[in-house]
Amino acid sequence: MSTPTRRSFPVTRLRRNRADDFSRRLVRENRLSVDNLIYPVFVLEGENRREAVPSMPGVERLSIDLLLEQAAELVALGIPALALFPVIAPEDKNLSASGAWDSRGLVQRTVRALKQAQPELGVITDVALDPFTSHGQDGIIDHDGYVMNDVTVEALVNQALSHADAGADIVAPSDMMDGRVGAIREALENAGYVNTRIMAYSAKYASSYYGPFRDAIGSAANLGKSDKSTYQMDPANADEALHEVAMDLAEGADMVMVKPGMPYLDIVYRVKHELKVPTFVYQVSGEYAMHMAAAQNGWLDGDKVMMESLVAMRRAGADGILTYFAVRAAKLLKQID
Ligand code: PBG
Repeated sequence: MSTPTRRSFPVTRLRRNRADDFSRRLVRENRLSVDNLIYPVFVLEGENRREAVPSMPGVERLSIDLLLEQAAELVALGIPALALFPVIAPEDKNLSASGAWDSRGLVQRTVRALKQAQPELGVITDVALDPFTSHGQDGIIDHDGYVMNDVTVEALVNQALSHADAGADIVAPSDMMDGRVGAIREALENAGYVNTRIMAYSAKYASSYYGPFRDAIGSAANLGKSDKSTYQMDPANADEALHEVAMDLAEGADMVMVKPGMPYLDIVYRVKHELKVPTFVYQVSGEYAMHMAAAQNGWLDGDKVMMESLVAMRRAGADGILTYFAVRAAKLLKQID
């Protein structure tokens, strides 16, 4: 009786396709393109002003005139859109966040200037009250400091309408109040803004990775030790994210978002694969800060981990990525500098 001859080689060698760059390119499953990038920017009052954000090396708060120069660079690089966040002076913040829907407010003036200077660049505005409240919460609070849902939604509707009025292409509610997408959609339709898109921060977690952003817009000190866990999601939950996304879609969202990014790629995957709608992910300030800190220490290769983190988000199912690395990544994709 003869024993069957044992093959002395593996028939399937997955390394064959990996042997050369050309075949690695041929079998590559996911790609990062400039079309996937959205650049978050911080705008402040004044002229010719630029302020570094210490916890976000390379990120600056810019006055409108300098932001317009930045916008021209985004267009030249082919980046489709920016996401706008205002830095509001402490004396302009109050308990009712009334600055949020001022037609001559910083956001509204910036949107008008951007759309006039670079009409083809998509402008996404943040719909949430935290830059405008004296306590740094995303909504209007009661005596106990609890963020009240329904009165906050009324304020958010006013804010979103004032953004649409100024010419915002996409309004992005990042506040996590219940029912806000439906209320904003109804108000936009009634006002004739039928094509103003809503990108809902649907699965937004109560994350400590937002720390540097709160430094950037100046809400960290006001917020103090309080957090946002009575409205943002518990990091331990996943099914609930699908529930949030499904509700926002039913209420009229055009695009949905998961935030933060890298620690939540399982959520991105499930949202994209179960709902099959335009899905975005936010690589937030704390993720950016970690990458930059490690790169500046020489502990990681900054450009390489940046590109790896971005393609990982594409692999998880993200159609688009909000990232402070957008400009750097776009330049690398174009092989400039
Ligand atoms: C506020 C808002 C936050 C971010 C975007 N919009 C912070 C927060 O919820 O406290 C975070 C973005 C980042 O960390 O890069 N509504």
